[in-house]
Amino acid sequence: MDENQNKKILTTDAGIPVADNQNSLTAGPRGPLLMQDFYLIEKIAHFNRERIPERVVHAKGSGAYGIFTVTNDITQYTKAKLFSQVGKQTEVLVRFSTVAGERGAADAERDVRGFALKFYTEEGNWDLVGNNTPVFFVRDPLKFSDFIRTQKRNPKTNLRNPTAMWDFWSLLPESLHQVTILFSDRGLPASYRHMNGYGSHTFSFINTNNQRFWVKFHLKTLQGIRNLTNEQAAKIIGEDRESFQRDLFYAIEQGNYPRWRFFVQIMPEADAQKTPYNPFDLTKVWPHQDYPLIEVGIIELNHNSENYFAEIEQVAFAPSNVVPGISLSPDKMLQARILSYTDAHRYRLGVNYESLPVNCPHVTGKHTYHRDGLMRFDGNDGGSVNYEPNSFGGPVANPQYQEPPLKIFGDADRYDHRVDNDDYTQAGNLFRLLPEDSKQRLFGNIADSMKGVPQFIIERQLAHFAKADQAYAEGVAQRMYEKINT
Ligand code: NDP
Ligand code: HEM
Repeated sequence: MDENQNKKILTTDAGIPVADNQNSLTAGPRGPLLMQDFYLIEKIAHFNRERIPERVVHAKGSGAYGIFTVTNDITQYTKAKLFSQVGKQTEVLVRFSTVAGERGAADAERDVRGFALKFYTEEGNWDLVGNNTPVFFVRDPLKFSDFIRTQKRNPKTNLRNPTAMWDFWSLLPESLHQVTILFSDRGLPASYRHMNGYGSHTFSFINTNNQRFWVKFHLKTLQGIRNLTNEQAAKIIGEDRESFQRDLFYAIEQGNYPRWRFFVQIMPEADAQKTPYNPFDLTKVWPHQDYPLIEVGIIELNHNSENYFAEIEQVAFAPSNVVPGISLSPDKMLQARILSYTDAHRYRLGVNYESLPVNCPHVTGKHTYHRDGLMRFDGNDGGSVNYEPNSFGGPVANPQYQEPPLKIFGDADRYDHRVDNDDYTQAGNLFRLLPEDSKQRLFGNIADSMKGVPQFIIERQLAHFAKADQAYAEGVAQRMYEKINT
């Protein structure tokens, strides 16, 4: 019996049966190829176009689907339907990532981790595009691309460049808080399952009475925090560059579903005028003592994607995807991200990226007047009316989704937010809460990273450590001295 008789017949992209997938069409058995071998040409041409631009940051990542379940009632703060009832479940997709490395970079590198969530809610998709840190390196989006350049490769040597990193950080002390996290134990997690996630920015909640609250989002791992030392990571990378992908994928395949407890911190709208720190400053946390964590629910990841490229590489998260009851804030970093992500997606995936199965709203569907554009691979809304207002039953806006007005005040200007801004207390608070052995590893990690950095930059940075805590500067200096003498 022919072993192929029950298999589908191989076709070209046009569905034409292929007679031979092993031998190209040639003039004679030893002769050159014939142009007429359109199937060969199709294979070569398609292959040449298989790669799309990688994400300019967060290029290396891993993802999975899961469920968000509400465990506590927060309807007094938000009318978002996904929080409307204890026990309510919403499908989520998570993509974890490293920031600086390219798509082929090793997973176990010291770097901030991305922690991006898409909630497929009944009022559209909510994307919480966070990190595993509650703060960030810069507080003004004008400095984002400069910062990222210091993390990427030197234009001449094509090597990662610690001098650029420490030059930039030492010239921009607002980075000190995040730098302290990066070089602490949590700057190198053992896996994506063993780290926390944070929305980082201040967002807003709006309740059914149209009251606004400021809110921060936290996800605490239920696997426990686990980290790697630089030495452990170097050994892992020597054996396995995909250690985080492997860990996440097989944990889920084996039914060992990772879970995070989801919390919010809530600040009444008027408090924003009273806090000693700017609550919209991304380099600052809200102390738990002032704004305690309120539990909201549990996220469990329970199935892998079927196709990595279609679902994880093509997923597009945007901080501008907020659903009724959840909204933005005056944080200028967040404001810039509202533009940046959708712009990046249109470049990386094309203008119709929101129609891709992983990105489209799974529960609601979408009802827009956008039409046409490159790769309009669905029905393009057929013959339905494509302008508004119209007399033919097209979708209409509904004022029930109007947010309460937000008071804006002040003259339009470029305000220097570095004057009288305390970049040191919170970084120092973090340093002081670390146990002694963690402090020692922090000193060692920083000293390692500063190898080869010019002395004047090191001294400038040591002065910042000293302002956070004298013991911080002394610990790092001591380690540097030991390294020079060993
Ligand atoms: P708390 O003592 O209430 O909280 C300390 C926080 O620090 C906990 O959330 C803890 O996370 C976290 N933490 C412990 N080790 C590290 C580390 N190596 N890297 C990052 N976070 C770590 O104090 P406060 O709320 O007053 O904050 C004090 C400092 O803690 C802040 O300046 C900030 O640096 C850091 N922090 C604060 C957060 C906040 O939202 N208030 C969030 C995360 C960090 P866990 O509970 O998971 O162990
Ligand atoms: C990815 C810009 C700050 C978390 C990206 C991408 C861009 C970008 C262009 C690639 C998007 C894509 O191609 O799909 C910016 C800008 C920032 C900023 C301009 C500041 C002004 C932040 C902050 C966080 C963050 C503060 C976390 C709190 C992420 C994550 C991803 C990402 C998690 C990867 C998302 C994914 O998995 O697809 N960022 N970013 N970014 N960013 Fe940012």
